[in-house]
Amino acid sequence: MREMRAILVEELGEPERLRIADRPVPQPGPGQIRVDIAVAGVNFMDTGARRLGAATGDLPFVPGVEGAGRVSELGEGVTEFTVGDRVAWVYAYGSYAEQIVLPAADAVPVPDDISDEIAASLMMQGITAHHFVTEAADVRPGQVAVVHAAAGGLGQKLTQLVKARGGKVIGIVSSEQKAETARDGGADHTVVSTGDAFVGPVLELTDGEGVDVVFDGGGETTFRASMEVLRRHGLLLYYGAVIGAVPVVNMRELPHSIKVSYPVFRDHIPTREALLRHSADLFDLVRRNILIPDIGRRYPLDGAAQAHRDIESRTTTGKLLLFP
Ligand SMILES: NC(=O)c1ccc[n+]([C@@H]2O[C@H](COP(=O)([O-])OP(=O)(O)OC[C@H]3O[C@@H](n4cnc5c(N)ncnc54)[C@H](OP(=O)(O)O)[C@@H]3O)[C@@H](O)[C@H]2O)c1
Repeated sequence: MREMRAILVEELGEPERLRIADRPVPQPGPGQIRVDIAVAGVNFMDTGARRLGAATGDLPFVPGVEGAGRVSELGEGVTEFTVGDRVAWVYAYGSYAEQIVLPAADAVPVPDDISDEIAASLMMQGITAHHFVTEAADVRPGQVAVVHAAAGGLGQKLTQLVKARGGKVIGIVSSEQKAETARDGGADHTVVSTGDAFVGPVLELTDGEGVDVVFDGGGETTFRASMEVLRRHGLLLYYGAVIGAVPVVNMRELPHSIKVSYPVFRDHIPTREALLRHSADLFDLVRRNILIPDIGRRYPLDGAAQAHRDIESRTTTGKLLLFP
């Protein structure tokens, strides 16, 4: 039996649980393709899977849900790809590995002028940011947004897409160094804050009015403060369930007739047609230099544990990638 190298989680817990192992090369079934992985993306949600288990419930499991590479084998009935095609994907467990099998219907063809690194870095954070500024928040010209973790992989993309729609961005970051990164990425203003310290500075920057929309992936420590910086009828998008405890809200606590949403990126790509359309939009935004994905750190496959330590210790900016 042919073998490949993969990261395996046999027990849930700390980053040390991410161990390199030899695994059988997966075989594609009907409607599936096997891909030789060039790059795998690291996402904050992977740390949740490592600690709490994968959404599939399997143990052991190969973590990672995103990547880019070349098709190396076709399962029965697959007609939309040929061996050698470049593809990218999101939400396919098994991505921290040399090879993966996934449904052909979940693979996105990667155009020649888009590198594997860029394609992999767009699939989770790019589609999510696209979802948040379009269907979830529908950001309009002149609106002001607060973006939490504005130097992070998702935060930078949110910033650039809000700006592309004519909005202004106040980026919240945890250090002066990250503030510089967030401004380089397009933020109009930055506030250095952890917890709720950003409320005063954001209200000051908006003459006490508050902002139109807050993008908050920060967990319970920022949630209530995010409500306080919204103007009347403002919108809070909350997506920080992996980072911290999920806030419990009494409806009567909501100030200024604000709206609260828990957007899930899968709702943006419910069909293959939507996945292809939104991916094509993102590739085009990169081509036009509107979206400039920042690769923060690159790791070999056996550096997965270090990548998790880094993202959990708030020391990273931009997208983190693993190279099998
Ligand atoms: N709902 C969805 O569809 C969806 C999709 C993708 C991602 N997400 C969520 O979006 C958030 C960002 O994900 P990402 O993968 O793009 O990661 P990321 O933003 O590149 O990195 C995480 C950043 O979060 C900030 N952070 C705030 N509190 C933290 C804490 N207690 N521990 C560690 N970091 C903390 C840190 O920035 P500062 O140091 O500047 O605060 C850190 O650099 C996560 O909550 C993730 O689960 C949700």
